Formats: sequence, C-alpha cells, structure tokens
Amino acid sequence: MDYLCQPARTLRGCLRVPGDKSISHRAVMLAAIADGSSHIRGFLPGEDCLATLRAFTGMGVEAERLSDTELRIHGVGRYGLKPPAGPIDLGNSGTSMRLLAGLLCAQPFAITLTGDASLTRRPMRRVTEPLGQMGARITTSETGTAPLTLQPADAGLRAIRYHSPVASAQIKSAVLLAGLYAEGRTELVEPEASRDHSERMLRAFGVELEAHAGFAALEGGQELRAVDIDVPSDISSAAFFLVGAAVTPGSELTLQNVGLNPTRTGIIDILRTLKADIEIANERTVGGEPVGDIRVRGGELKAATISGSVVGRAIDEMPAVFVAAACATGETIIRDAAELRVKESDRIQSMVDALRALGISAVPEADGARILGGRMHGGVVDACDDHRVAMSMAIASLRAEQPIRIRHCDNVQTSFPGFVEMANAVGLELRVLNERPEVA
Ligand code: S3P
Repeated sequence: MDYLCQPARTLRGCLRVPGDKSISHRAVMLAAIADGSSHIRGFLPGEDCLATLRAFTGMGVEAERLSDTELRIHGVGRYGLKPPAGPIDLGNSGTSMRLLAGLLCAQPFAITLTGDASLTRRPMRRVTEPLGQMGARITTSETGTAPLTLQPADAGLRAIRYHSPVASAQIKSAVLLAGLYAEGRTELVEPEASRDHSERMLRAFGVELEAHAGFAALEGGQELRAVDIDVPSDISSAAFFLVGAAVTPGSELTLQNVGLNPTRTGIIDILRTLKADIEIANERTVGGEPVGDIRVRGGELKAATISGSVVGRAIDEMPAVFVAAACATGETIIRDAAELRVKESDRIQSMVDALRALGISAVPEADGARILGGRMHGGVVDACDDHRVAMSMAIASLRAEQPIRIRHCDNVQTSFPGFVEMANAVGLELRVLNERPEVA
C-alpha cells in the first residue's frame, strides 16, 4: 500500500489519537495471567497489540471484545495458560516477542514464537541471554533472531541481578516477567532509565516491586490480581501531529488525553529545544500514568544538537524528529540514537534516504545523522515497511512543494489504525493507493 500526499498547509483542530501501544500490550499480558477479570478501556486495536491478544486467546485465555477499544479479559492465573496449537505468530511486533519470551519461558510446555520478515531480522539475544542466565531454555537462529523456541525450564527459573548493556524497556520487562516465576529476587540495572510502564502496571496488578530510574526488582512467586485499566492516547502517535503542527506557521492543534509518562516525553523536550510552541494543560493521573492535553502552535523551528538521555525518552519519535530537523533553520545534529538501527527498519538509513529523495541534505552517522533544514520538493520515498517512517513522511507533506508518494505503508496498521482518516480530518491530504484486498 502506498500513500499519496498532496502538499498541505496547516493542521488545525482537536484530536484524540488511539491508545498507547506499550500500555495496551502490557494490559493484555498481565490481565491474562492475573486472577479474575480485568476491564481494559482505550485499548489500541492495532495489529501489534492484536497479535499479543491472539497469543493469549490461543493459550486458552477468554477475551471479550466489548468494542474496538474495550476488552474484558478473564485471567487464568500465572500457571493457567494452555499449550498453543502451533507456533505463535507475532507479526511485526518486537514488544510482543521480547516480553512474551520472558513471560512464557517458565511455562511447562514448549512454545515457538515467530513473526514477519522484519521481526525475524531483529536482535533477540538481548533477551534470550539474560533469560538463559535465569535457567530458561530458548533457542534462536544462528544469528540470534526469531523464531524463538521456548522449552520448559526443567529445574525452574532462578532469580538473577542483571546489568543490561542497553537501556531497553523490552529487556527490562522480559526479565521482570520471567522474575515473577523465578525463585528469589530478580534485579535489573540499566545504563539509563527506560520506559517504566511494566513497573507501574505490575504494581496496579498488586505486585510488590522496588523501582527507580534505571533499576527494578521484584520477588518471584507473586500472584496478580485483576484490575481495570484506562489506556491513555499514545504520545508516539501524537508525535506525528505535534511535529506537523509545530513546523507549519498558522497551525494550532490540541491532542487530548495523551500519556505523559516522563520516560516518554522526550519529543516535547526536543521540540521545545527546536523552539516549538507547546503547552500542556489538564494534567492528571489515570491508572497510575500521567496524562494531559498538548497544545501546539506552528512557527519557525531552529536547528539544535539532540543527544543524551532525551533521545532514549523519544526513541520511537525520532523519525518524526528527522522531519522536524528538515524543516528547521540550520543544521540539526542527532547523536546517541544507535538503537534506531535495530527498529522495524534501520530508521537512520530509512529516514535519511527518504529526506534525501525530497531534496534535503542529510548525512547518516553511526549513531544518528546531520540534517540541514531546507526546501522539500516532492517525490517518491520508501517507508521500508516501517510504520513510523511512513507516518513521518506523510507529515513532511505539510512542507513539501509537490506531492509525495510513500511506498510500503501497510504497517501503519500495526500502531495507528485510522491514521489516514484522522490526518485528513485536521488538514493533511492523504490518499491510499494500491490497498491490499481484505482477506476473508
Ligand atoms: C517498547 C520499548 C522500546 C520501544 C518500543 C516499545 C516497549 O523498545 O522502542 O517501540 O513497549 O517496551 P526497546 O526496549 O528496544 O528500547
């Protein structure tokens, strides 16, 4: 599927983007192994979270779809899962695969986790290595990628203290979820604080846990108690519109009910560093997560150096930051973003190639890029089957002088169902070309 984006001028209005992907995954996982029924509102019905949901229904968990975004999950307890009928296909979803590796490696039956071409290229040793230290028996391909085969850990899991070489919520969560099944206290130390949704939600489900920036620990053997969860809108989906409005003078957009967990708000800090006009209102706490409305007004952005911990707090928003940089006056330097190379695509290369195709001067570096703001003409760009590259380039059409055709956009469905409709409602002019026919 391609997007054809006509040049657009401003974004105006009020939007409520879909639910947070990280929180939706965790809500399903923890509700499935809790005792009792959990009601989830604001669930993201994107392909990635649906893959997580299907994984559990395939292991005997009953889930009622009350609406597109509302679920009731009847938990089966930590040991109530049943063997799946075959390999579990997690599609494009790295979060599903890495967290489920942790959650499922203590089950008393074998499980195979697989996924699409992109997911089966992504590094998995970052989770299989610490899980192996805990006694899990997981095999990967020779290069450390999926499919992952999880065999029952005969002697059970043992707690470890793990120093993660990368700040990654997926590694941390995999180890903590396995830690629920391990004997003793599992501890995780990371070089910088990664997103802490797992810690917050484990607590909501009644798990006792010690956590502060860069550290988390829990005692094995704890049971989870069902709880109702309200999922806020995903700041990673809001980010495309924040950037789009920020780079177009005359825009004024409000994004409502957005998750503002401080481990995720790097995009706001980065846009403010580039001199964007952003205000936050209506701040409140919903289900243990900070939430608020974000208002952004368009203007002229100024280049800056973006590096250090803010990059980790905006890691999924960096493709949109590349577009902001292309619209800013001067050269923006992005550093400390090497993790972008192992996302759904190599996002440094994908974004540099796409911006260059529109006439922007952009140079890739090992852990970032240099981007010189300038005029964007139109052209054909490749989203490389990466949802966030596709949506970032759609936003670029607010500053392009001619239409942009974006190839390979199907995966937008993984994180942002309804993107095209929502984008068009506030001022973009997107059309879908070559849509794949629905498979019955
Ligand atoms: C996620 C963690 C991040 C992020 C991903 C979602 C999560 O990945 O990029 O989109 O829900 O835990 P890493 O753990 O690899 O940093």
